[in-house]
Amino acid sequence: MKFVARVFGVGVLVGAALTFSVAGTPAFAADGKDAIEKRITLMKNGVLKNYLYAKKFAKEGEGTAEGVVKHAKLLSEASAQVVALFPKGTGRGDYDEKMTRALPKIWEDWAGFKTAANVLTQESAKLAEVAAGGDKDAIAAQFGKTAKLGCGGCHKPFRGAKVK
Ligand code: HEC
Repeated sequence: MKFVARVFGVGVLVGAALTFSVAGTPAFAADGKDAIEKRITLMKNGVLKNYLYAKKFAKEGEGTAEGVVKHAKLLSEASAQVVALFPKGTGRGDYDEKMTRALPKIWEDWAGFKTAANVLTQESAKLAEVAAGGDKDAIAAQFGKTAKLGCGGCHKPFRGAKVK
């Protein structure tokens, strides 16, 4: 009887330890995976789509200046959500290179990363202002700055090469 109780006791302890590790690990991994998926969706839908509207207007004369105002504002709003979707421990090194292009440098230079996001917020807000003026050349020039300083200013230092 004593023996059975002891075995049972050990079983409970081992069981508890297993439950703890099983419950703990995937919950953490799912949070990181969730952030990675959310930020890639934000980049594609909130950032890229609105950026492309302005690009088509600037390069091909498609769309309207009022359309650029609207999409540049949406782009600026989306850019303000970027930083929150990069919690520590969700870059390359923590996750498979196929899953994320976020370089560890993001967290090594967190201030620089936040500044890069802010540059896009500012340049795209400026694009909306310039577009409201309706001057096509001025819009194209400000689009160029938004692309180079806004997207390029962050992708160059902080995004790694695509891995297939
Ligand atoms: C503050 C930094 C930052 C800014 C600003 C930024 N990006 Fe990104 N972007 C990233 C990072 C980092 C990734 C990789 C995310 C991942 O894979 O987890 C990414 C991913 C993307 C993706 C998803 C597909 C891919 O190639 O990884 C697209 C599309 C994209 N960015 C477009 C843009 C465009 C267009 C702009 C400018 C209008 C822009 N980004 C501005 C950091 C930024």
